[in-house]
Amino acid sequence: MSAGTNTERSEFFDGYWRRSRLCGRVGEDLIGQEVRVNGWVRHRRDLGGIIFVELWDYTGSVQIVFDPGTGDVHKRAGDLRGEYCLAVRGRVARRPEGTENPALATGTVEVAVEDFLLLAPSNPLPFEVGEGTDKVDENLRLTYRFLDLRRDRMQNNLRLRSRVCAFTRGYFTDNDFVEIETPVLTKATPEGARDYLVPSRVTPGAFYALPQSPQLFKQILMVGGFDRYYQIVKCYRDEDLRADRQPEFTQIDVEMSYVVEDDVMSLIEGYMKGLFKTILNVDVQTPFRRMEYWDAIDLYGSDKPDLRIPVKLADLAPVFEGGSFEAFRRILENGGVVRGLPLPGGASLSRKEFAEVEERAKKLGASGLAAFTFKEGEIKGPLVKFMSAQELARLKELSGLVDGDALFVAADASRLKASVVLGTLRLELCKARGIFDAKKWEFLWVVRFPLFEWDEAEKRWSAMHHPFTSPVLEQLSQMETDPGKVLARAYDIVLNGNEVGGGSIRIHDPQVQARAFSCLGIDPERARERFGFFLDALSYGTPPHGGIALGLDRLAMLLCGGTHIRDVVAFPKTQKAQCLLSKAPSTVEDARLEELKIRCVPAEDEDA
Ligand code: AMO
Repeated sequence: MSAGTNTERSEFFDGYWRRSRLCGRVGEDLIGQEVRVNGWVRHRRDLGGIIFVELWDYTGSVQIVFDPGTGDVHKRAGDLRGEYCLAVRGRVARRPEGTENPALATGTVEVAVEDFLLLAPSNPLPFEVGEGTDKVDENLRLTYRFLDLRRDRMQNNLRLRSRVCAFTRGYFTDNDFVEIETPVLTKATPEGARDYLVPSRVTPGAFYALPQSPQLFKQILMVGGFDRYYQIVKCYRDEDLRADRQPEFTQIDVEMSYVVEDDVMSLIEGYMKGLFKTILNVDVQTPFRRMEYWDAIDLYGSDKPDLRIPVKLADLAPVFEGGSFEAFRRILENGGVVRGLPLPGGASLSRKEFAEVEERAKKLGASGLAAFTFKEGEIKGPLVKFMSAQELARLKELSGLVDGDALFVAADASRLKASVVLGTLRLELCKARGIFDAKKWEFLWVVRFPLFEWDEAEKRWSAMHHPFTSPVLEQLSQMETDPGKVLARAYDIVLNGNEVGGGSIRIHDPQVQARAFSCLGIDPERARERFGFFLDALSYGTPPHGGIALGLDRLAMLLCGGTHIRDVVAFPKTQKAQCLLSKAPSTVEDARLEELKIRCVPAEDEDA
């Protein structure tokens, strides 16, 4: 029989061929003994008539050797190709001196094949599955994800992710939490994205929404007497995708009754400490730093600052207010800001690079960007001629410039915009120039977010987190009179510049909840229609409560040292929210649509 013949291998199941050892665990203890190994062919080499194959399974690989002396067995081995699936019987031997492979756990031994059974051949591979395949086009990898998953990196990532889940279940169970599943076919929960909708067949014209989070249900569980709930749960959000976003992703969702902010935060600090010790053997220091939202914006130009970068923004108002540079003075007089971003070593940037930074700032929304360099004790830049020696000295002092640095200055009517532009440049420039400590784990709590933010397009206030977040109690009375000033009892947990979780103490008084809806422009009738069940539940003796949700994919990505959450998701979607493997989403038969009483408008007729 040729190695390429594929039949149902019923003889496999009688035990004669089934593995007695996993490939990666064939060790010196077996030398001289019979072994049966099952796995895939990787790296076949023919050397002077002897055929060497690396046979691998999830535990690693072992070298199997086909000697010409085995006649037909050796002949059949000539037909073996990459990723053919085999059952092998053979005898374990020590590798000849000088041929050991220290990179392999099994590198001192090999299996001299006595016979093998081809369990399944493979079609020709669209890409090499072994090492060094990170350069393979990602769309090709996603189309053949089953092969991509055989790569060491994906194997390691998904196994690490599974260990994160196991740790999570243990931690929350040990802390008296109950895991409860909440519905997937449900009503919309607003988390700021669009909903995925599922049409109902039995109620034509009605739709379920897939949950953006279990927010409402976990709060109702608090009303239902489950003081401490958690769930590892899929959430669905139809939003623009980025490296750290998938349309379906997983949260570690937590809710607790009778708690204040510190209770939730210390629970999560304990979780992170245990998780990092268990998965990476890293000791993280707790409690984590806390920073108020506006301080994070002013100092780092971000609500999720990467504290591994040792650069802070500077408030340069004291330099330019009342000064002779009119444009900046005017902005300050009208309540705007002037802020600076020092760039260590930036004085060596070329003219072209300075122009590129300015261009980037404009793309980010800045009206302009002024640059200074500080070299050999002298400050240079187009604005220098408008500034006094005293002002220049102050500029240097406030931004902490040292010799060799550059300084980028943005002025804007909006405190948020000027800071965020410089904050984005801080990230991009410092990361590109290696100005950060890649080995550090910098956790941070960002607290005291504004409760609402102004939505210019919709001309109304919207919730910065979600509408169920409690305002700080002293500001409750200002919700209607000065909504922009009210702060929230919300907290985000940030790790190395990534938002890995967010939560809050909730509103538990139905009257306050109704007021919050009204501030968001949701009138009582609509509030009843959308959230009536929830408001009703709140009216039955709801305990004060709060919680958080951690982004499992993002956490796993960071623990794996990755930069893209697709690498910790077995079957991810592309930027266009498509699954290249299964080709979802796809059209459905007319009969199915008819059943659902749905008629599709052809794409070209959309405008009509
Ligand atoms: P939030 O919307 O902040 O809060 O989500 C919590 C965490 O989930 C992760 N996350 C995502 N991960 C991957 N892809 C996405 N599209 C995506 N969106 C969010 C982030 C984020 O910090 N119900 C509240 C939680 C609460 O208040 O308890 C909520 O969902 O890491």
